[in-house]
Amino acid sequence: MPVVKSALHMCGIVGYVGPKDAVPVLVRGLSRLEYRGYDSAGVAAIGKNGLRVVRRPGKLSVLVAALESEPIEGHIGIGHTRWATHGRPSEDNAHPHTAGSVTVVHNGIIENHLTLRGELEAHGRRFSSETDTEVFAHLIDQEIAGGAKSLGDAVRATLRRVEGTYAIVVLSDKFPGDIVAARNASPLVVGIGDGESFVASDVPALLDQTRKIIFLEEGDVAEVRATSCTITDRAGHALSRPVEEVTWSAALAEKDGYPHFMLKEIFEQPRAVADTLRGRLLPDAGDALLDGIQLPVAGLNRVVLLACGTSYYAALVGKFLIESLARVPCEVDLASEFRNRDPVIGVGDIAVAISQSGETADTLGAVREARARGAYVLAITNVVGSAIARASQGSFYTRAGPEIGVASTKCFTAQLAALSLLALHLGRRRGLMTEAAGQRWASSLAALPEKMTHCLEALAPAPKTEPPLQALAARFRDRRDFLFLGRGMNYPIALEGALKLKEISYIHAEGYAAGEMKHGPIALIEKDLPVLVVVPRGPGYEKVMSNLQEARARDGTIIAVATDGDTDIERQAEIILRIPDAEAFLQPFLTVLPLQLLAYAIAIARGNDVDQPRNLAKSVTVE
Ligand code: AGP
Repeated sequence: MPVVKSALHMCGIVGYVGPKDAVPVLVRGLSRLEYRGYDSAGVAAIGKNGLRVVRRPGKLSVLVAALESEPIEGHIGIGHTRWATHGRPSEDNAHPHTAGSVTVVHNGIIENHLTLRGELEAHGRRFSSETDTEVFAHLIDQEIAGGAKSLGDAVRATLRRVEGTYAIVVLSDKFPGDIVAARNASPLVVGIGDGESFVASDVPALLDQTRKIIFLEEGDVAEVRATSCTITDRAGHALSRPVEEVTWSAALAEKDGYPHFMLKEIFEQPRAVADTLRGRLLPDAGDALLDGIQLPVAGLNRVVLLACGTSYYAALVGKFLIESLARVPCEVDLASEFRNRDPVIGVGDIAVAISQSGETADTLGAVREARARGAYVLAITNVVGSAIARASQGSFYTRAGPEIGVASTKCFTAQLAALSLLALHLGRRRGLMTEAAGQRWASSLAALPEKMTHCLEALAPAPKTEPPLQALAARFRDRRDFLFLGRGMNYPIALEGALKLKEISYIHAEGYAAGEMKHGPIALIEKDLPVLVVVPRGPGYEKVMSNLQEARARDGTIIAVATDGDTDIERQAEIILRIPDAEAFLQPFLTVLPLQLLAYAIAIARGNDVDQPRNLAKSVTVE
């Protein structure tokens, strides 16, 4: 899988070694990372009583209360806030994970954790959690038991056996003065203090302690002591990394230097898609795994996708994918309508509930309705252990990490990735897709995150310092109406573009199937009405172009989302937002990007709070 630049900040990590009592430093660092969302927390320290660990599900305040009744002390420690990917939120699954003399905190995904776990259990190791992370603790402890000369050596030997992404921080009471930190496609920094050192998954955790920061690179292994930090690669070769002076405010640091969470999350999409595909997409086999979920494929009548809002538009794209790859009838229903309609559904049907939060009341109600009528219910959600996941027979998680901006962006494209995996999985198991076809499809999907990165960087080369698309935003910020048009798989993208503009810029916008325009909305078109047309090269291109010309003929201002290298569009559209060339089934992952950026640009040009827009909540738990 091509490595996309920086990984997703799912879990929060901190570490400290120095003269102070470590636990208060750790808890304060974790509190600086709370904004990102988490479901459990824990700390470990090595003191006069050796290595001690306290973990609790729930908010940091629960952990703090536990530490009052179960105090631990020491001048070296690590801490963690967890965003579950493997294993539901619980004390056993909370980090740090311990095996023998070793305790570990981790952010990322170990792809071969099941294989390694099998090998360790075969050697008599006993596991106490459902997490992939616990494998690290056992492997490092095994290396130490096997005679490793230093904690660094034990960690390096372990990393040579692990596949996947990780930021890990390790302690062992066999090496009580050392913290070892290692990164692979997951962010990790070291903070240099006066006679003390810090480690963290993100700068905000350290800003009120030090501004001298070492940003670890891919493959780095740092051995951190109170007054020193040595960095090597996984083979043990010495490396040097600059100590940088960070000048960001705490608020800016929380957004990784982006002015808003929404923009940060737009740029996290390549990673969210890569992580959601990781360990599940099998390009060589032309297949996709669903984390061991056994769907009732034999005797399958149809698939019914249920969702609300942006997740509903992802479902509309999912319908195309599932029908074209698995050749099974696929219906899409608004959850709020489905649950109040006495729906016809039952045994032989698979209902798929799609929800970023996993808590949306209408979707939860639809899940219960479908299940009560005998359908198998699969949840696709971004929150492990959420209500919709618990109410469903199977839960397949997107791995977008916490989404702070109310306007959903990275969870939308992560949902498209999950639906692509589901379509491929069904297509292969219904025997309607050959291995060769599966391989072609899967390798195109595997190359997608890099295409998304190129697309975003071309549209907004310096998002942290220059707001994107400002010339366009200035031109359209005072418009009262917008029309969005698309065909086929890009029709739902037109709907999503209109929703994004509505929910953060408060401008009236309508998404429409381009072929439907002449049946009514064409009456809306007048001089200078902005008409955004999603018209990439591919199936239906000619038809969309004729719809575009109908709008242009009535003096609409045409903004086209078009493919790199398409010169025909230059004679038809006044404004062109380019995307890389891609197969039709991949286009929605790309065509949505300029629409998200345009909505963001217009909203900030109007001075709106794009992260917390008016009248909206991140998850709608009322019916
Ligand atoms: C999208 O930006 C909105 N926040 C909203 O439409 C949202 O998609 C809808 O409320 C569904 O939420 P869910 O995915 O958490 O179920």
